[in-house]
Amino acid sequence: MPLEYKYCVRKYRLETAVGRKRVVRLAFLTDIHLTDQGPGQEFWKLLDKCRPEGVLLGGDLMVAKEGVQVRGAEKFVGKLTEKYPVWYANGNHERRLLEETETLGKTGKRYFRAISGTKAVRLANQKAEVEIGGCPITIYGLDLPEEYYRKGFRRKGMEGLLRETFGEPEKGRFTILLAHTPRYWREYLDWGASLTLSGHYHGGICLLGKRRGLITPDYRLLASECCGIRNRGDSSMIVSAGAGEHTVPVRIHNPREITLLEIAFGEA
Ligand SMILES: [Fe+2]
Repeated sequence: MPLEYKYCVRKYRLETAVGRKRVVRLAFLTDIHLTDQGPGQEFWKLLDKCRPEGVLLGGDLMVAKEGVQVRGAEKFVGKLTEKYPVWYANGNHERRLLEETETLGKTGKRYFRAISGTKAVRLANQKAEVEIGGCPITIYGLDLPEEYYRKGFRRKGMEGLLRETFGEPEKGRFTILLAHTPRYWREYLDWGASLTLSGHYHGGICLLGKRRGLITPDYRLLASECCGIRNRGDSSMIVSAGAGEHTVPVRIHNPREITLLEIAFGEA
């Protein structure tokens, strides 16, 4: 029997000088790893209680391995977009779905065709400029090749890659970078979006304190970027412990997470 399949809401309050005085509420969901079914009632109740004005998806809605089932992810995105505006960035599993056609066949093509029939805005190395209640927000969705997720691999030049892909973070707007793996958190903060959101590590199976996890999917022990928030100047980085799990279906002191962001605009 898997442990701690309950959900929690982790709420973060952020302040920005830009925009008119107003609080914008956004939910961030990542690593749900669905198979043939969407999430259950408990999840939807908790999400609706958060009253988000939009939902940011950080990727890994499915488990991309042989025999992959994406029906749950399709249903989930469809239902979510009926309730909220949704922006969807890829994780390593979405990327794999598209690239590993030898083992996964046309599932990726079919899945993304189904997603394009929903109201979700896909951000694969793209940005979206939005206004929520008169507050200007730019959302960047980073889509990294599989090698960036490999065990023992750490590629240099992430900050340069971000500049090449997106330019500089836009001034005068609250900027959000969706970057699935937190491995490059220093570089994300150097790039300087107002907020970077990651997941991928599932809280490191067992959370030890607020940020550190026991072991990551790339077999790093006691990594300090498994969960929680870091601030540097006007930039913040938040890592979610994720809303699901797959290969190691265990969570200890580490419930599934819905991340709720309360962004206070117009705070000088
Ligand atoms: Fe992932």
